[in-house]
Amino acid sequence: MRVLVAYYSETGNTEKVARAICEEASKEHEASLKSVGEIIVGNLNDYDVVFLGSACHSTDLAAPVKRLLDAIPDSPKFKLAGFFTHATSTAGFHRWASKCISSFQNTSRERQVDFGGYYNCQGVPSPPVQEFIKREAIASADKYEEYLEEVRKHPSPEDLQKAREFAREVLSWAQE
Ligand SMILES: Cc1cc2nc3c(=O)[nH]c(=O)nc-3n(C[C@H](O)[C@H](O)[C@H](O)COP(=O)(O)O)c2cc1C
Repeated sequence: MRVLVAYYSETGNTEKVARAICEEASKEHEASLKSVGEIIVGNLNDYDVVFLGSACHSTDLAAPVKRLLDAIPDSPKFKLAGFFTHATSTAGFHRWASKCISSFQNTSRERQVDFGGYYNCQGVPSPPVQEFIKREAIASADKYEEYLEEVRKHPSPEDLQKAREFAREVLSWAQE
């Protein structure tokens, strides 16, 4: 199959996940890796499977990824799968990152896109975002230090391994 892994990443976390997915897909398929800015929407139908990835911004997919999703034609030939990285931990996920999931699901439903699901993991936030989290999202200093120690490890080797497993599952679903 022809596989495209397209991603939007400002500080490299989502790009690491994209590279892991692309490496896995390359084992048995013709896979290419592109940043969202390189994508021409009219060419998406050249692919059998498109993995679309984003950093989570303001609780949702980043604006360039939302614009790309909005531009997807109805009932495209390709199958879609999503991935995203976010700074929030499980405790804050619903409030701070769950719109990423609804955006993939709503577009897929509205445009009749075959959607193979999504993968997500934490990604260490940049220093300004760390400041925001310290100020707005985590009240206690102890909890913030604990959070920071943990989030700095992501995406971890285990996260990237899970992304590879996700890629394998999506590709076998797409081949059915
Ligand atoms: C402008 C901006 C807004 C962000 N908003 C959120 C957010 O609402 N929820 C969240 O979990 N993470 C948020 N983050 C953190 C990023 O999603 C996270 O660090 C991600 O791994 C960054 O991916 P990247 O390195 O591929 O750019 C935000 C980051 C930036 C720069």
